[in-house]
Amino acid sequence: MSEEIFKKVVSHAKEYGFVFPSSEIYDGLGAVYDYGQNGVELKNNLRQYWWKSMVQMHENIVGIDAAIFMHPKTWKASGHIDGFSDPMIDNKDSKKRYRADNLLEDKINRYEKDGKTNKAAELQSALDQALLNNDLVQLKSLIEQHEIACPISGTRNWTDVRQFNLMFSTEMGAMAEDADKIYLRPETAQGIFVNFLNVQKTGRMKIPFGIAQTGKAFRNEIIARQFIMRMREFEQMEMQFFIRPGTQKEWYEYWKKARMAWHAKLGFGSNKYRFHDHVKLAHYADAAVDIEFDFPFGFKEMEGIHSRTDFDLRNHQEHSGKKMQYFDAELDENGKAYGNYTPYVIETSIGLDRLFLATMCACYKEEEVGEGDKKDTRVVLNLPPILAPYKVAILPLMKKDGLPEVAREIMRDLKTDYNCFYEEKDAIGKRYRRQDAIGTPFCITIDHESLENKTVTIRYRDTMVQERIAISQIREILAKEVSWSNLLKD
Ligand code: GAP
Repeated sequence: MSEEIFKKVVSHAKEYGFVFPSSEIYDGLGAVYDYGQNGVELKNNLRQYWWKSMVQMHENIVGIDAAIFMHPKTWKASGHIDGFSDPMIDNKDSKKRYRADNLLEDKINRYEKDGKTNKAAELQSALDQALLNNDLVQLKSLIEQHEIACPISGTRNWTDVRQFNLMFSTEMGAMAEDADKIYLRPETAQGIFVNFLNVQKTGRMKIPFGIAQTGKAFRNEIIARQFIMRMREFEQMEMQFFIRPGTQKEWYEYWKKARMAWHAKLGFGSNKYRFHDHVKLAHYADAAVDIEFDFPFGFKEMEGIHSRTDFDLRNHQEHSGKKMQYFDAELDENGKAYGNYTPYVIETSIGLDRLFLATMCACYKEEEVGEGDKKDTRVVLNLPPILAPYKVAILPLMKKDGLPEVAREIMRDLKTDYNCFYEEKDAIGKRYRRQDAIGTPFCITIDHESLENKTVTIRYRDTMVQERIAISQIREILAKEVSWSNLLKD
């Protein structure tokens, strides 16, 4: 059932201009997608929700926008050249390559769905252990023991598990012989670390403080599946919070709680989220947890919260020869200044595309409407109004008798503050349905009565209730319903 819903969400995303396969006329490019006219609006709004709550709502967090290309030594220092790889396994019949841990995670989800909770827990613990020990032989053995078959060929004819580096590289410089090999960043975080002192000094930031940025990241993911869940080019929204060494546990707990509360405010239901502690830690972390979302294909990682110690700043200091230290003039309990140290870091890192997918899945609804031979199914995206691509649709009932002129006047007034959709073609019922399908929370219909008494009909997306209101009331309603404070206030 859930897989059926997922298929519907994917085709809805295409049909209504949210997400298209990249270079579709050339049959697409694996695990690369384009956002369409409605998708880009929703994505911008989700990014804005994150930016407002992380940067603008925190006096001690500022934003930056670092370049995608970085000096190649960055990736040596960060450990990505040596350690950024995934355990891969190939099926010899289909010639398809998979992440060994993902095959096992899918099996765990299947056990859970089938009510085999003991088996799921047993496999989860064996998987955690194999990942912790980086035991590639054990990963293969688990795949065999649990009789996992290739989804394409259906066979269990597997190669050994091998490590595969995920970074894309290219060359910078006109002459091939002088060109430097550089990498497309696999995470946005390093742009923050290398700018730590620039921001700290120019912003006169005092620890604890954070630096946030959003932007593209690139990973040569082997498996192209689950739509925009795992892409080769995707967008991250990351924040590095710089703290005193020794305070990492307390700040880790703080950000776990804060990030979960941020998700809860979207109103998709608290049962849709859970924490998943990492047993195998990334090369830079001393603690890590995922916030998982209940996608139609099971609980999967949407956001990571990582206690990154001083790993990154310390390594950049070592590889660049530049001091990455902070002078803390505040006094400790013994009245002594904390002095110079390399700050520790708590990172929050969320994939914007995964948040987008979670939002589409949570808000996609099919509802039975009407009665008797008027019975029908409507598809509605019940997005929080502030996130909807269009906030209001302006619909003259007819394309004549001066109705479009009144509608245009209303549009002119509203469009400086709200993204408005204007449409005068087709029966009004059809037009309402199209707006439901892209999540527009309000439709304003202008009819002949509007000419007489300056009133319009407002139709509410979720209830489909229609009300007669004065044109002068529209702004009042929108100001109340379409407001960032509905999502941001405590
Ligand atoms: N700086 C830490 C970092 O990059 P990560 O867990 O590898 O940590 C953070 O990535 C988030 O980025 C993930 O929780 C996920 O939402 C998103 N992400 C990672 N790989 C992705 C991919 N291939 N496609 C889409 N989103 C991805």
